[in-house]
Amino acid sequence: MTGDLLAGLMTASVEDLADGAVLLRGFAVAEAPALLAEITAIAEAAPFRHLITPGGFRMSVAMTNCGAVGWISDRRGYRYGADDPETGCPWPAMSPLFRDLAGRAAQAAGFSGFAPEACLINRYAPGARLTLHQDRDEGNLSHPIVSVSLGVPATFLFGGLDRKDKPRRFRVDHGDVAVWGGPSRLAFHGVDALKQGHHDLTGQLRYNLTFRKAL
Ligand code: SIN
Ligand code: FE2
Repeated sequence: MTGDLLAGLMTASVEDLADGAVLLRGFAVAEAPALLAEITAIAEAAPFRHLITPGGFRMSVAMTNCGAVGWISDRRGYRYGADDPETGCPWPAMSPLFRDLAGRAAQAAGFSGFAPEACLINRYAPGARLTLHQDRDEGNLSHPIVSVSLGVPATFLFGGLDRKDKPRRFRVDHGDVAVWGGPSRLAFHGVDALKQGHHDLTGQLRYNLTFRKAL
């Protein structure tokens, strides 16, 4: 396939979520096997765990991080930290593969110069969900969030700036990348309970990489 044809197909697969928010269909399909291999390596050093919310609930989504800082939650609150509280060691480094993909996706969505320090890695088993929330623990809200879906498809909920705004529902498939910034940076979003499913690369699981400019 020629470069032009490929570029045309990629242009055709951009879907608007809201002002400042797009879904890049299939943007990460080619890199997906390498991304998943890296998730496995990261999880050997920094295992997936179910974090406790400040209110005392155990999250159904299992999480880990890579990058200079990682997102954590416990009874004391939500925050970014340089060390994994489970191991006491720094989070595994963010590889060029991860960083470049995030930068290219942000660029394709119209946000240049995206250089994230943090990548939260979410693992969804059947039934796991993420209630509507804003990503607002980052020190710098002028950069977007870049969110990569891998494995079993899920329903991504994308609402407005008010928790009460009714979210729109989007199916996110393996390799899809959502980017939200600018007027949508603080939009409420979440993920419906994962349905039973199968993907050849992840079995019954869905993974999500969320890149943030945290510092
Ligand atoms: C998140 O909001 O951090 C994750 C969204 C997703 O799993 O698609
Ligand atoms: Fe989020």
